[in-house]
Amino acid sequence: KKPIFILAIESSCDDTSAAVLRDGVLLSNVTASQAVHEEYGGVVPELASRAHQQNVVPVVDAALKRANVAKEELSAIAFTRGPGLMGSLLVGVNFAKGMARALGIPLIDVNHLQGHVMAHFIKESDDDKNQPPFPFLCLLVSGGNSQIVKVNAYNDMEILGQTIDDAAGEAIDKCSKVMGLGYPGGPIIDRLARQGNPKAYQFSEPHIPGLDYSFSGLKTSFLYNLRKWVAEDENFIENHKEDLAASLEWTIVDILMKKLKLAAKETGIKHIAVAGGVSANNGLRNAFHDYAKRFGWTIYIPKFGYTTDNAAMIGIVGTYKYRDKDFCDIDAPAFSKVTF
Ligand code: KG4
Repeated sequence: KKPIFILAIESSCDDTSAAVLRDGVLLSNVTASQAVHEEYGGVVPELASRAHQQNVVPVVDAALKRANVAKEELSAIAFTRGPGLMGSLLVGVNFAKGMARALGIPLIDVNHLQGHVMAHFIKESDDDKNQPPFPFLCLLVSGGNSQIVKVNAYNDMEILGQTIDDAAGEAIDKCSKVMGLGYPGGPIIDRLARQGNPKAYQFSEPHIPGLDYSFSGLKTSFLYNLRKWVAEDENFIENHKEDLAASLEWTIVDILMKKLKLAAKETGIKHIAVAGGVSANNGLRNAFHDYAKRFGWTIYIPKFGYTTDNAAMIGIVGTYKYRDKDFCDIDAPAFSKVTF
């Protein structure tokens, strides 16, 4: 049987990424991150699109070269269709279309969120088998999303609960910004939190019914408390940043895990995964191990490299869709907003 070679392209936010997979086994995954946003403390859409424009060709070339696959061998090209920043998406979408057209091969559109969830199915070798069985629950936590997803099949996902305002990653990034730390705040808070006391400060937790999340109240509570403490002591942040980070992280992880536990109880599902940029967080990873022991869960935590935006996760969905001959038309538009 002829192997399936998929080239995948991801450009939804500020990472330009390309990956090559053979029958679902990852051969290469090359990502160019954009340092240009750091001085603004957040992603600047216009600058992101321009950087994608510069990065996309070298990144794709490097992915093919590293995989030792010629473009003529490709079976199809998979691309992130959305959700994401429209200008960023357009670069990857149009590049994928042009290349697929030139090579005369099918195009496969991939939902970015589905990609994050399916990161658990990326195989690094033919006998890589640590994949969750369907159905499983996935806590999807990134800069733009916080949701609990019931995954019935690779192409059948239900959102059981989601944030009604900010995402968890967004809340971490904003709190880090008001503390005057760098961008993105997630990894900085993570590092500081390891040296701090998680019970040093208390921030308000939301009281939202059901499985939905809310993080804007916590963000406001953090900001108001911080203002008060800084008014009393101008060196407050500098002297207490570890405890502040640890307490903030503890609160966010607690909010995330309480609802996830409720979802596991309501559905009776004990195979529980985590995905998205915030799943790189050590506090969250530790909480997963802790809950697994306490509640008999089998947990699935992606490798660090597959937590943040990457094309490997787009390529694995592309491989499954290729097997189902689920291709998209050349005139398929990008979507800035879309759920599963
Ligand atoms: O999935 P992702 O790369 O981008 C989106 O699709 O949104 O997630 C980025 C988010 C950012 O908010 C970033 O601060 C957060 O993930 N993040 C972390 C960590 N690493 C990245 N948050 C907490 N701890 C980390 N170690």
